[in-house]
Amino acid sequence: MAKLWEGRFGKETDAGVNSFNSSIFFDKTLIEEDITGSIAHAEMLGATGIIAAEDAELIVNGLNGILADIKSGILVIDEKAEDVHTFVESVLTERIGAAGKKLHTARSRNDQVALDTRIYVKKKIVSVKNKILRLIKTLVKTAEENIGIIMPGYTHLQRAQPVAFSHYMLAYVNMFMRDKSRLEDCCKRADYLPLGSAALAGTSYPIDRFYVAEKLGFGHVCANSLDGVSDRDFVIEFIFCLSTVMMHLSRLSEEIILWNSSEFGFIELDDAFSTGSSIMPQKKNPDVAELARGKTGRVYGDLMAILTVMKGLPLAYNKDMQEDKEALFDAVDTVEICLPVVAGMIDTMTVRADNMEKAAQKGFINATDVADYLTKKGVPFRDAYKCSGALVAECIKQGKTLNELPLSEYKKFNNLFENDIYRETDIKNCAEKRTSYGGGSNQSVKIQISEIKPFLTE
Ligand code: ARG
Repeated sequence: MAKLWEGRFGKETDAGVNSFNSSIFFDKTLIEEDITGSIAHAEMLGATGIIAAEDAELIVNGLNGILADIKSGILVIDEKAEDVHTFVESVLTERIGAAGKKLHTARSRNDQVALDTRIYVKKKIVSVKNKILRLIKTLVKTAEENIGIIMPGYTHLQRAQPVAFSHYMLAYVNMFMRDKSRLEDCCKRADYLPLGSAALAGTSYPIDRFYVAEKLGFGHVCANSLDGVSDRDFVIEFIFCLSTVMMHLSRLSEEIILWNSSEFGFIELDDAFSTGSSIMPQKKNPDVAELARGKTGRVYGDLMAILTVMKGLPLAYNKDMQEDKEALFDAVDTVEICLPVVAGMIDTMTVRADNMEKAAQKGFINATDVADYLTKKGVPFRDAYKCSGALVAECIKQGKTLNELPLSEYKKFNNLFENDIYRETDIKNCAEKRTSYGGGSNQSVKIQISEIKPFLTE
């Protein structure tokens, strides 16, 4: 397929350079965005009289035909073209003749590719957001269905204090809600039309960029042509948002892997979301969670790649920037494949309330409550803390839990202890007492769910 830039060259491009330079293998992903952008551009050219209205109409019809044929499969992308922009323009000219050659008036591939990428990013922000919302809904449903279950909360992966299992699920809901709002913010900065920046300096044609922005649903127009063609902040920001989604998915996955182990036994993954071993017949592995955790590294890599590509680039367009796309597409595809499969895994897992509650009985996770008991009776917290620590040491010596230690023993440490210490240190009660706003009790969980619900309908 002929190049868009032949004319001043006396030689054929070297075959190796041809394939090195070509981006059609990956930028074909942008064909729909490219055609949509070109249609708006052609309409503007016609409306402003830069080209004849009949030519604009021919172009628009031709482009619509190409889009329809690509969608139906009649037209196959020719990978001999240098890039998707070359392919579309060549097919158009083949189909409608001379009018096709007018499409690129007042435009460069530099602003064209920036436009295609922005349309793509804006579209993908919406689809990633929807997938996050589905995961959030699954987590809220899991939280709601399991109200009442107490488990140990951890710090340093050591049993710390009892919390509602639902509280744990809602912690992740909060993370994914932030991810969603981060994407919404990111969209604000992606929502600037770069088309009309032309190669770098704008154009002498009387173009109407605001007309194009409106046609394409852009809220703003890039205010500086040099910046318009060379800004890839929106790609970086989007991949950063995706990296944060992956970071959260990897933390959730790690919990699932631990909880699904026989050492924890807090949940059991559904057979449909587990895989086996080729040698050990007994194995049922949490591969979904492991892969989601592993793919996080891949998305971080995409972020590092584009940050590094952009580092030190002088204005305006440089071919280095062609390297943004594979990282971008890979990050999007990875997140889009991970979110629904993790949601499915959570939705189908079995929660083992008995094992969670058994684990909560061990590890002296009511030791803070012993200290609080004394503090509420007037002992300064630091002294109460020491007394509780000494009681834990005594329990370890006697092989007892704080609930099993007789009152006579308690009294040796402080005479303020009475029989109500056993209710105060009852694990369920310990969790339920934490009714402070945002705390780990089931009562707090119900409030959290009622506050989240209005945001789940968007
Ligand atoms: N394939 C190119 C890219 O992705 C399109 C822009 C080409 N512009 C140029 N001046 N060579 O960046």
